Amino acid sequence: MYCTRKVRDDLVWVGADDRRLVCFEGVYGVPDGVSYNAFLLLDEKTVLFDTVDRAVYGVFLENLEHELNGRPLDYLVIHHMEPDHAATQELLLRRWPETKIVCNAKSLAMMKQFLGWDPTERCVVVKENDTLETGRHSFRFLMAPMVHWPEVMMSYDTADRLLFSADAFGTFGALNGRLFADEADFFGEHLDEARRYYTNIVGKYGMQVQAALKKLAALPVDMVLPLHGFVWRGGFEAYLEKYRLWSSYAPEEKSVLLAYASVYGHTENAANYLACRLCERGVRVRMYDTSVTPASYIVSDAFRCSHLVFAATTYNNGMFVTMENLLHDIAAHNLQGRRVALIENGSWAPVSGKLMKELLSGLKNTEFVAEPVTLKSALAAGQEAQLDALAETLAAEILA
Ligand code: FEO
Repeated sequence: MYCTRKVRDDLVWVGADDRRLVCFEGVYGVPDGVSYNAFLLLDEKTVLFDTVDRAVYGVFLENLEHELNGRPLDYLVIHHMEPDHAATQELLLRRWPETKIVCNAKSLAMMKQFLGWDPTERCVVVKENDTLETGRHSFRFLMAPMVHWPEVMMSYDTADRLLFSADAFGTFGALNGRLFADEADFFGEHLDEARRYYTNIVGKYGMQVQAALKKLAALPVDMVLPLHGFVWRGGFEAYLEKYRLWSSYAPEEKSVLLAYASVYGHTENAANYLACRLCERGVRVRMYDTSVTPASYIVSDAFRCSHLVFAATTYNNGMFVTMENLLHDIAAHNLQGRRVALIENGSWAPVSGKLMKELLSGLKNTEFVAEPVTLKSALAAGQEAQLDALAETLAAEILA
């Protein structure tokens, strides 16, 4: 049975939720599912904006056929070629052989790669500021390279001031019937997953996101329609402000992310001691065991917090594996402008501090607030003074 939602009188959401996906992109857990958004315009011409992941093709096809109600599908606009939106293009093009594909040159090149055949004769290739007239509506195409892939583009409808924003402004989480952000408690219940989506999916490309935001700033927008998560028809400015912060790598709050990797609990004990001293001083601490919490959640809070403390035991003459994975992930996502402190542990040759420092030294505008604190097996009697001092230093910076 079809399952659609009206966006406006002539625009329908024909996407679907996926609640059975374990890992988005094979790596990011999505315990609340994810939505693949596709929108059908029923103007003088019919236009489908993007397709969906293969996992939900069945209901997507039912949605499309129901809403077209026998009309032909005139255009398929492709904003992004990643297979969570594009994997069903071929099935759709075979089902509607007359449909014209509206895409840019980079998308066309990727289509050839993914499809294994050349769809050029079916394509209307567009570039920056080209338009598509569909009757009452007129769509202008805006390139948004690296938000999240190089071929990404957005569409702006000058008639109803709609912005089809591709991956930008998306969130993890199934829609569960709610299409619009104002139908949910977005900032109370969904912002954390929106942050995790942004930081892990496009966090690396802050400069390119800023370029896209600059381009969009000149446009009056009444509705924002991303490829994942909620559609915005009001209250968007507060979310846009988050994007300005995230893409500039500015922290959202003066607080400490405290992530530790501990094999037998001694490094954890030191991390707990430090957390207590910080909290006593009024500092907010967001604390994680890197062996328990998947890296994507910790990366997300690394973007959120002004100060980062990492505590890791030495392992195989390196740093413990889950910490190594986390720090590589943070570096890969281009985080910058943070204040960092380190705690290392090692029973005979502690090197994790040196290795963590080497890895994090590559982060732009990032400085260490102190030399690493070194544990030999466990926090020694009297050594708590070093952690007291670290807590004092961090608190002085954060509460200043
Ligand atoms: Fe939702 Fe970059 O694809």
